[in-house]
Amino acid sequence: MARRRSREKQPSREDYRLKEKLKIEEGVFEPRTMLRLGKLFNAGIISSMEFIIARGKEADIYAAMPGDRVDSDVVALKIFRIETSNFRRRVAYIHGDPRFGKVRETLTGIVGEWCKKEYANLQLANAGGVHAPKPYAFSGNVLAMEFVGTGGKPSARLRETELGNPASTLRAIMEDVGRLLETGLVHADLSEYNVLMKGDVPYLIDFGQAVSVEHPNATDLLRRDIGNITSFFNKRYALGADAETAFEAARKLSEFTA
Ligand SMILES: Nc1ncnc2c1ncn2[C@@H]1O[C@H](COP(=O)(O)OP(=O)(O)OP(=O)(O)O)[C@@H](O)[C@H]1O
Ligand SMILES: [Mg+2]
Repeated sequence: MARRRSREKQPSREDYRLKEKLKIEEGVFEPRTMLRLGKLFNAGIISSMEFIIARGKEADIYAAMPGDRVDSDVVALKIFRIETSNFRRRVAYIHGDPRFGKVRETLTGIVGEWCKKEYANLQLANAGGVHAPKPYAFSGNVLAMEFVGTGGKPSARLRETELGNPASTLRAIMEDVGRLLETGLVHADLSEYNVLMKGDVPYLIDFGQAVSVEHPNATDLLRRDIGNITSFFNKRYALGADAETAFEAARKLSEFTA
């Protein structure tokens, strides 16, 4: 372990300059994360850090100002924690996926693989027309993506939003579940916590654990996703939606037959 650590890159003197530019206080980010932020800065993805949007279970989400290469007012950065992460148990999601062959075994490697997987999943989702943040770039444990919000204010989660037309929101989410299936993916952690409401439009987020439809548990995970969403709408808005009907409809829509 000690040998591995010494082989990992250490921050250089240039990082002090970078800290100034990125307005990051000493000790806020791990040295490895600082290196990754520097890469995104040099690649023209971000130009400065702004504020923290949320602290999740395994990642923190920050708002950053865009660099030259990104045409948007704000960039969202998902920074996966390395030391305190609970990623080892998640390797199963990567091992069952034919797109990810060799998985590195160090914690940094696993977190990096996870971040890359979320990036790849977001690319697929966007290509399939799903309302999900556009991924801009990733480096190690840092993922840069479209900021879901209005006027610099991050959108609230479905759970914290009072919907004007819950039936049409549920329909929109189910359509996106169907589009995602068509691209060959199951979200696998869908719930009222992982949907943001940008005005009336639901955005699916948090794609790290999404799996290929070829994953052995894809059908169960799809059923669970749809069950979570329909039971939220039924409890909160008394819609009386039937999870199994929605499941069959999503399957039919995508001709998913696993
Ligand atoms: N692209 C984005 N634009 C705006 N806000 C975002 C974006 N991505 C994430 N967020 C905010 O950050 C929170 C956490 O993001 P996400 O769910 O991806 O991380 P997580 O570590 O899996 O969190 P959790 O453990 O809460 O599920 C979201 O609930 C949302 O409020
Ligand atoms: Mg989440």
